[in-house]
Amino acid sequence: MSLPDWANVSPERRAHIERVVALLKTWADAMHVDAKERDRWLRAGWLHDALRDAPFNDARAHGPAAADRAAAAGETDRGVLDAVRHHTVGSAGWDDVGRMLYLADFLEPGRDDDPERERLARWVPMQRDAVLREVIRRRIDWILRSGWPLPEAAVTFWNQLAGRS
Ligand SMILES: [Fe+2]
Repeated sequence: MSLPDWANVSPERRAHIERVVALLKTWADAMHVDAKERDRWLRAGWLHDALRDAPFNDARAHGPAAADRAAAAGETDRGVLDAVRHHTVGSAGWDDVGRMLYLADFLEPGRDDDPERERLARWVPMQRDAVLREVIRRRIDWILRSGWPLPEAAVTFWNQLAGRS
C-alpha cells in the first residue's frame, strides 16, 4: 500500500506519513510480527493523516473522516479503522494497530530532534506498554499545559494502562 488516491496532504504531511510508516516497519521487523499484522500496521500508518490537510472546521475531524473514507474505499479491518479514527486522542478499545500507530505518530523522528523521543522509539520493541504510558502521559501533559479540555477518551486510555508494570 501507499498513500490512497483520495488523500489530501501537503508535501510536509506526506513526509511525516512516510516517516510514521517507516517507523512502523522498523518495529514490525524488530517485534517479529507476521506479514498480515505488519500490513495492518502499515495500512493504518498510510491512512491516518490522509485527510489532514483537507478543509475541516476542527482539526480533530481528520481521523474520523479518513476512517470513513477508507471504509468507503473497501478497508474492512475494524482495528485499522479504529486506529485511524481515534489516533489524535487514543482509545481504550484499541488492539495493537491503534497502539502502534499512536506511538509512531508521536515518536517519528521528524517532529523534533529531542534525544528522549529517539530513546523512547528504540525502546518500543522491548517495552511497548511502558513507552505507551510515557507517550500518553506526555500528550495529556501537553493538553493540560495548553489549557484545552481533556478528551474523555484520552483519560480512559490512560486509566487502562496506568498502574501496570
Ligand atoms: Fe500523523
